Amino acid sequence: MPNPFYVTTPIYYVNDRPHIGHAYTTVAADFLTRFHVLAGREAFFLTGTDEHGSKVAEAAQAAGLSEIEFCDRTVDHFKKAWESLLINYSYFIRTTSERHKKAVWKILDAMRQAKTDDGQDAVYSDYYEGPYCTGCEKFMTEKDLVDGICPLHNRKAELIKEKNYFFRLSAYLPEIKRRIKSNEFLILPEERRREVLGLIEQDIGDFSLSREKVKWGIPLSFDDSQLAYVWVDALTNYVSAIGYADDQESFDKWWNGAEVVHLMAKDILKFHCLYWPAMLLAAGVKIPDTVFLHGFLTVDGEKMSKSLGKKIDPIDMVKEFGADATRYLLLTQFPFGIDGDIQVDRFTRQYNSDLANDLGNLVSRVAKLIATNFDSKLPDPKKDVPGLKALMSKAEKVPGSAYAHVKHFAPDKAIAEAINLVRAGNKYFTDTEPWKLAKEGQTDELGGVLYACCEILRIVSIMLHPIMPNKMQELRSVLSLDDSTLSLKNAQIFFELKPGVKIELKESIFPRHDVKKTAAAKTDSKSSGNSDNNGLLDFAEFARAKLKVAVVIEAEKIEGTDKLLKLQIDLGTEKRQIVAGVAEFYTPEEITGKKIIVVSNLKPAKIRGVESNGMLLAAKSGGKLTLVSLASDLPAGSDVS
Ligand code: MSP
Repeated sequence: MPNPFYVTTPIYYVNDRPHIGHAYTTVAADFLTRFHVLAGREAFFLTGTDEHGSKVAEAAQAAGLSEIEFCDRTVDHFKKAWESLLINYSYFIRTTSERHKKAVWKILDAMRQAKTDDGQDAVYSDYYEGPYCTGCEKFMTEKDLVDGICPLHNRKAELIKEKNYFFRLSAYLPEIKRRIKSNEFLILPEERRREVLGLIEQDIGDFSLSREKVKWGIPLSFDDSQLAYVWVDALTNYVSAIGYADDQESFDKWWNGAEVVHLMAKDILKFHCLYWPAMLLAAGVKIPDTVFLHGFLTVDGEKMSKSLGKKIDPIDMVKEFGADATRYLLLTQFPFGIDGDIQVDRFTRQYNSDLANDLGNLVSRVAKLIATNFDSKLPDPKKDVPGLKALMSKAEKVPGSAYAHVKHFAPDKAIAEAINLVRAGNKYFTDTEPWKLAKEGQTDELGGVLYACCEILRIVSIMLHPIMPNKMQELRSVLSLDDSTLSLKNAQIFFELKPGVKIELKESIFPRHDVKKTAAAKTDSKSSGNSDNNGLLDFAEFARAKLKVAVVIEAEKIEGTDKLLKLQIDLGTEKRQIVAGVAEFYTPEEITGKKIIVVSNLKPAKIRGVESNGMLLAAKSGGKLTLVSLASDLPAGSDVS
């Protein structure tokens, strides 16, 4: 029996409304939890809110509320958002709760008793003086400020001198480094691991555990003139929620006996990868197994910060696409771990392409043929229908490889496995031409094809359950399936459905999304052709793209447009023509001879009536487009990966 899985999101600040940045981490944690449970593992998923600190007190005052009233109000927003996104957390921790306060006291007491290796007290009292930003809730260094002003909050840092209790962080860094290097403490992705190791090499100093000036927080048990520093308070949530101070049995199970994973974006790396393990080491508590730091999302190129920038409210997105599709769209935009810019108009295209066309259509085409030819009852399987073996061998691999991606924190890849199986199902359906079999009265053969398609849908209803629980439940009821067969194990077998069961689709599971908004969204990008997507590839298409080095051998303008160039390119083994929207940035002379990178496996398309057989890669910055070109002497035709 594998050990239990304990996953956490950061606890979110209550002075911000939930946006899709918060939703990204929370949906990912929910997805991972559900997937591990599907695989037979016990799991605990923690989220919650970070409610103390000056800025909460300030915001409450501005809203004319008491601090706790203000917190209650935002907590409600978060809980509603998570409910609308079908987030199935095991516990919601609030740092204003009694049990949390007890845990903060307990950990600080344990730290106060600790001695470092060279016999010094891990906690000591000292004075600190420095510029403090109440927005960041921290003392700032000169480097953080621009002319004394915090650039993030656009407010002047105040000079503060106060007595603090300090924690001898530096004494614990060598041990943390050792554990990172030996992978006992896993920091992922690799780039973030390197960043943490780099930080350890810098002189980051000790940090103070308490504050005198702050008014809204947890008073120290041993000195009530001081409140616990917000990060010490906040980080402790991960243990308070599972019983560190009040339920030893639960704590042993979910901390000492579990795989402990903290999920977050890279913005809070230092606190989680250095402060937190050091606090735990001093307190004599096990440190987490993994910290996974995913990328940061922007929206249409802008940051989603508390006061500035574009923000998308997850509840609005749910209104637009429904809960399941919102979850799907959020996690499939980018590989988990890299930054990405959310482009809202892509959501509709991708919804229609992956969910309405690929998955939704397969369900409705299969159900329709079963309704008309088999009175809505599942026909018998037929093991020798052409193409079935290949389809089955694809299907067999999907659960294992998807779960491997889940274990490696790659939700996007796990989901792509299932969607690729849907595509294989669609291809099988099209290749076997069941509508013809029906016309020709080849009932056995037709039944065999439709049975196999239902099996693919059954497997998909399991594999996509963690990301779209309600919609997959709908799909399972179309197939007359109950929850007893909802497990990863069950996805690994074929010929599981009982012939004769009712297959009935009353309403389309993923109705097409009405595309009313942008010109880019007006087209439906089901195929990976390059004619219908404004020259941009969506992520799923990009994942399938074969990139090659090519040399531009000839270029000319296309008449009637000042945007397009017709290029003849040399791909090493062949020559091709492509049409590229680069004429505003490159003249034909400038581009000729350049070594570029092209997507080589697209269906040919006609752009302005001119055949285009590929797409080139370019980067846009400040309104200027630059070709992704190569200075190296890689020959044309080289694969790029
Ligand atoms: N309260 C602290 C965390 C304490 S945890 C002990 C905090 N709160 S926060 O509200 O600012 O949340 C930060 C986290 O929210 C990020 O680490 C990430 O999980 C999520 N995100 C917020 N904005 C985000 C993006 N724009 N993109 C991706 N994730 C984002 O820091």
